[in-house]
Amino acid sequence: MTAIRTPVVSVLLDPDWASGSLVEDVRRGLASHPRTLPPKWLYDDRGSDLFTEITHLVEYYPTESERALIGAHAEEIVTITGADTVVELGSGTSDKTRTLLDAFDRAGALQRFVPVDVSEATLRTAADDLSVRYPGLQVEAIVGDFTLHLGHLPTGGRKIVAFLGGTIGNLYVEERAAFLGALADSLEVGDWLLLGTDLVKSSDRLIAAYNDARGITADFVLNSLHVVNRELGADFDVDAFSYVPFWDPHMERMDLRVRAEMPQRVTIPGADVVLDLASGEEIRVEISTKFRPDGLRTELAAAGFAVDHLWSDGDFALTLARRTA
Ligand code: SAH
Ligand code: AVI
Repeated sequence: MTAIRTPVVSVLLDPDWASGSLVEDVRRGLASHPRTLPPKWLYDDRGSDLFTEITHLVEYYPTESERALIGAHAEEIVTITGADTVVELGSGTSDKTRTLLDAFDRAGALQRFVPVDVSEATLRTAADDLSVRYPGLQVEAIVGDFTLHLGHLPTGGRKIVAFLGGTIGNLYVEERAAFLGALADSLEVGDWLLLGTDLVKSSDRLIAAYNDARGITADFVLNSLHVVNRELGADFDVDAFSYVPFWDPHMERMDLRVRAEMPQRVTIPGADVVLDLASGEEIRVEISTKFRPDGLRTELAAAGFAVDHLWSDGDFALTLARRTA
């Protein structure tokens, strides 16, 4: 029987990362128009659990679409890439990734799995589960920020970097280009990217997916205000905000905001900020960009990735691209 290998967890975030980096984001973001907070602050322990609940909602189709695409093409991905190392960015629970890892495991090809996430508790639980599920697999988890720490990805062997769930759509267009460029720089020619992206579709379906009947998505987005209250001693009256999701047809993205339903003065001592919000003022907490296959190919090519396959069910796309010279 193969012995279980203990996961190695590297923590690249400073102990005061949550408060330190949040201070800059709060100062810059809340002073801009529209006011914004970056979405990585959605994923404290409660936010990570709420996201898992979102993935089980009937309205939220991306998870099951992507799971089916991975299931249908996992064997092909193993054969085409010949990878021995799977890296996963924004891995969360690595739930769907297990279908891919199973296929690599069956082929006897898998040596290393490197999940990367800012959410330490979720990452540690996933790393422990995966070590048990795949005895012999070296799990090297990284508690890190995929917009900052791509230079720390492992070297050697043949790598496939999975970036699933449509999380790339949570980056702004200029952040996306910077991210893809940094990812290309961190890989060797011949390494692979497996990218999940949600596709443009009717606004009705999109709004339903981001405004579920049980209000789980609303709780998830409003949780960002609880994070600022806890980390920076702020006094957002969260109950006085409502959740406002809308489709931006020009940018082709969902725009997820919270709206102050009454005027309020918010004091954020940890960031030395006092915010006067008028009734109806909004803070954008997340965007979720939807893609078109041609646009994806162009963006990937500009960063140094050639699309080898693009599989889609019409709702979601799974793209396998190779780092070119
Ligand atoms: N890949 C999973 C989870 C998607 S949710 C899926 O497809 O279902 C997005 C994940 O990305 C969360 O686990 C969150 O903690 C993580 N995340 C968000 N911003 C991040 C960042 N800047 N760096 C690293 N992880 C990030
Ligand atoms: C993680 N990410 C791809 C999700 C999305 O669909 O943009 C986050 C989310 N926000 C609200 N619902 C889901």
